Parts: sequence; C-alpha cells; structure tokens
Amino acid sequence: MKNILLIGSGGRESTFAWKLSQSEELNQLYITPGNAGTGAYGVNLNLAVDDFEGIGSFVLENGIHMVIVGPEAPLVAGISDYFEAHPRLKYIPVIGPAKQGAMLEGSKDFSKQFMIKHNIPTAAYGTFTSASLAEGIEFLKRLKPPYVLKADGLAAGKGVLICDELVQARLELSSMLIEEKFGEASSKVVIEEFLNGIELSVFVITDGDNYKILPAAKDYKRIGEGDTGLNTGGMGAISPVVFADDEFMQKVEERIVKPTINGLKQDKIPYRGFIFIGLMNVGGEPFVIEYNCRMGDPETEVVLPRIKSDLVEVMEAVGNGSLDEVDLEIDPRFATTVMLVSDGYPGKYEKGKAIKNLDKVTESLVFHAGTKKDESGQVLTNGGRVIALTSFGDTMQEALGKSFRTAEVVDFDGKYYRKDIGFDLQGKVLQK
Ligand code: AMP
Ligand code: GLY
Repeated sequence: MKNILLIGSGGRESTFAWKLSQSEELNQLYITPGNAGTGAYGVNLNLAVDDFEGIGSFVLENGIHMVIVGPEAPLVAGISDYFEAHPRLKYIPVIGPAKQGAMLEGSKDFSKQFMIKHNIPTAAYGTFTSASLAEGIEFLKRLKPPYVLKADGLAAGKGVLICDELVQARLELSSMLIEEKFGEASSKVVIEEFLNGIELSVFVITDGDNYKILPAAKDYKRIGEGDTGLNTGGMGAISPVVFADDEFMQKVEERIVKPTINGLKQDKIPYRGFIFIGLMNVGGEPFVIEYNCRMGDPETEVVLPRIKSDLVEVMEAVGNGSLDEVDLEIDPRFATTVMLVSDGYPGKYEKGKAIKNLDKVTESLVFHAGTKKDESGQVLTNGGRVIALTSFGDTMQEALGKSFRTAEVVDFDGKYYRKDIGFDLQGKVLQK
C-alpha cells in the first residue's frame, strides 16, 4: 500500500487524484496545493510547488513512497534533481524528468536541436539573439508567410506568435529580442517554418528505457468558437482523435516516439515520466511542434479516464524501470471534456463566485480546476479555468452531448464555455 504525493492544482491534477484514488494499491494520497475537488480524493497540503525543501521534509516525515509532478514549472526548476541529490530522498521515485530532460519543454532551442540531431520530423528553424537580430531578419525574408516566432523559454503558453506579414514579424522579433517582450524567456527566439495541418497531442510515458503510448487527444486552445480569439490553457478536449488512425499512429511511433526515447538515451538524459508531443498532421505526415515534459491540461481529463489499468501500478513501473511488464488497457469509448471558464478569461476575470448544482450532475465526471472552498464549505471559482466536465460515449457526439448538457447544469456567475468543442471532427470516423 502506497502513500503518494501529487504536485499541482489544476484540472489535470484533479483527474490524476480521481484516478489514483481508485487504486487498491493506494493507502493515502496527498495533493499540494490541490483545489476544492482534489480534497475528495486525498488530503490537500499548503506547500508551494517550488518549495522543494518543504516538499522533501513532508515526504520524509510522512512515509511517502512516490511523488507525481503535474505541472512543468517544478520540473524545469529541478524538483527531480533535488530529490536525486538528497541522501534520503533519492530513494523516493519522482515521476517527472530532471532539469535536463525538462529542457525539452523549458527551451525551444534545445528541443529543436534535439529533434534535428535525432532526425525527428519538425519545421525548419533558426535561433537568434539580440546579437544576431540582423541574421534573424534575413532568415525571416527567406521564409514564406505566415511567420512563426517562439520565445525560447517558458512563457506560460503565451510565447508563440504567428504573423501574417513580414513587417509585423520583423517588429515582433525586435520586440522579443531587444525589448524582452517575454522577459528573459525571449532573450533567444526560435523562428520556424509554418506547418499547415491539423494538431493533436500524443502522450508517452517512459521509465527511461521502455515506453508506452497513451491515448491521443485533441485540445481546443482558443477562447472563441471556430478556433478564434486568444489562446487559453485549453477549453476542451477529445480522445480518441478520429484522424489519428492506426496508420498515422504507426508513423508517429516509428518516426517520433522511438527516436525520441532513443535520443534521450543516446544523449544520456535520464527521463522518467510523461512526454507530451504536440504534433501537426500535415497531409497524413506527423511533424513535432513541441515537446512538453508533463501531461496536457485539459487532455489529461480525457486521456486518464480512458486508461482502465491501475494508475498506481503504472506509475510504480515508471519509477522502478519495469514499464515493459505493464499492459495498458484502454477504454475504446470516446471521452470528451468541456471546460467551464470565468468571464473575461484569458484576460482579467473575477474570482469567488459560488458554483451551483455540482450535486445535480448525473452524466459526467466533474474535475475541478480553479476552485476553492470557503469556511462554510461552499465551492467558489478561484481561477480562469474553473471546472472540466468529462463524459463518455460510443460516439464523439454522444459524449459531447453529455458534457454540453452538464455544462448547462453546473452554474456560476460569468460562466462561459465553448459550445463547439469537436466542431472540426464532426462527420469524420475513426478508422482502425
Ligand atoms: P507551442 O507553444 O510551440 O505549442 O505553439 C503554440 C501554438 O502555435 C501551437 O499549438 C500551434 O497551433 C502553433 N504553432 C506552433 N508552431 C507552429 C508551426 N511551426 N506551424 C504552425 N503552427 C505552429
Ligand atoms: N493543453 C495544452 C497544454 O497542456 O499545454
């Protein structure tokens, strides 16, 4: 029986908490800092995700057997390295890569170099600094529009700009490099060729040697219907992805997953945890847009519910290098999630609105994202993304119908959600 500490506080972590809590192997789950929903599956703590000392002491004092890290920030900041370097904590597996592996997400330049070195299909690119601004502009002139500019470092999902006009791309490049538009994160900028296709997210878990591919998902990033308006953390997700048929996924495994795992080994980058591969399907051929060193949010809200296997056992196998002995059982049904967000998100929004009718939900799973409880136990909004509503169905339409009906039931002042999740996949069928 295991005691597990889960780090993070969003819809992704609520889904992990829900799934871990179903395991017969689980003794006690702790979540830090968690939210109003995770409290139903374990004990929420008050430790900040970057308080490695506090987390380490808690782990030692409370007999924690394993730590699962949800978000990228503590990984990029080195939580796994901290455990590895500690005489007693080094025996506690942390699910999530050390700093070097987390660079796949923490530096776009690093991840592009990795892909080129290991022949992994990706868009052509160049990396520039303030000292090479002139070369950057020359590089832009040689590309066809639209132009893709990416801040090298973590920029909370905002560091990618797509410009239609060369003049605008030149201005943005200067603003990123010279005026540090995204702070230190844009002191280096990756300029990329634009890939024209349809996006999906593929998830892999690895123990550093063996790997398993998890169900693929598609997320909906823009705030507005028809994929318009500002980018958000994600407004909904669907799994499986109808255009990611067996033939396409075979290409993904051979051309991308295997060379990625082998590349990490070859480069002596130990990696134990999740790899999130953001892909563009360009006329049936997969290209990598980005790597993340964690699960996606809201993709987790549809991927984990489709995994029937015991998640504690799977995580233990990742921790002790025996992932080859695990058989992942996947639910063939569709899972969909619709995210309820606060009015104004991803810009300014208010918090503290009472969330009503959570007890009236019958057709969907409720995964809290930005929520908290007041002294009376009332659940309040506490973020831009508030609640993810996940449903199953034999068809995508059936699952979506449930999520949308539940989205009408759960209520709070200023509730907004996209009513067109899956719009671009309607009428397409999954070919096995
Ligand atoms: P990233 O943070 O790298 O995932 O980029 C954010 C979004 O920008 C992606 O989800 C894509 O929609 C888009 N994007 C990034 N790189 C490219 C590219 N080379 N071609 C087309 N779209 C891109
Ligand atoms: N849904 C995209 C992400 O988690 O980055």
